[in-house]
Amino acid sequence: MSKRPTGKGQKRGKSAGGVAGSREARQRVKTARGRSNSSTRWLERQLNDPYVAAAKRDGYRSRAAYKLREIDDRFRFLKKGARVVDLGSTPGGWTQVCVERVFGAGVSAASSGERGIIVAVDINEMEPVTGAKFLQLDFLDNAAPALVKQALGGQADVILSDMAAPATGHRATDHLRVMALCEVALLFAIEVLAVGGAFCAKVLRGGADTEILNRLKQEFSEVRHYKPESSRSDSKEIYVVATGFKDR
Ligand SMILES: C[S@@+](CC[C@H](N)C(=O)[O-])C[C@H]1O[C@@H](n2cnc3c(N)ncnc32)[C@H](O)[C@@H]1O
Repeated sequence: MSKRPTGKGQKRGKSAGGVAGSREARQRVKTARGRSNSSTRWLERQLNDPYVAAAKRDGYRSRAAYKLREIDDRFRFLKKGARVVDLGSTPGGWTQVCVERVFGAGVSAASSGERGIIVAVDINEMEPVTGAKFLQLDFLDNAAPALVKQALGGQADVILSDMAAPATGHRATDHLRVMALCEVALLFAIEVLAVGGAFCAKVLRGGADTEILNRLKQEFSEVRHYKPESSRSDSKEIYVVATGFKDR
């Protein structure tokens, strides 16, 4: 039987939705004048992607929301009342999942009684997500970490980074750019995480570079690579998840 992404109100512990192919007939897109072959392929993939359909149905802003749900179902770092930084947040799927898990699904942040805080950061604009603070910043800018710390107002329990620069198609360049973003996120995490905190960041297949991996192993008690089912199999992305931040 084909599995499907599950709804937003679903209890934790069950799968956040793995999808083998859908049984529905695959929709084909005719090539049109002015549309390139790659746009046609992209459109066809969007139309046939069950996570795109599920995100629309469940009110998530991106299919990426299911990746964080899967990661957190497995590693369980988004606890009620947690202090979270979500780097590379736009359009906001991960931020929505953070709000649900930190404050409770269907509960507004203000009325939840939870102390949690969610600071979302992106170089691009993002429509507000109720319950989260948003900062539009280039996180590679030297001034950015201090501004995020200020918004956080103390230590963090979780640092997430789904940051990705637009792909150039040149493998080595894309790898270097993603790793640079992961590295700045990790240096920030080391500065602000509370003992026991968690770090989760996007890297490219092949995993984190040896240098980053060694640093992660020094700073955290457990380090794993994880590719959620909702991450496209033809995508080179994979996540590094480190838990149990050690005492400085
Ligand atoms: C894959 S998208 C994130 C999707 C998001 N997690 C969600 O659930 O909707 C990657 C994001 O990283 C952001 N980004 C790339 N470089 C950045 C930088 N230097 N500083 C901040 N954000 C950056 C991009 O603008 C983009 O919105």
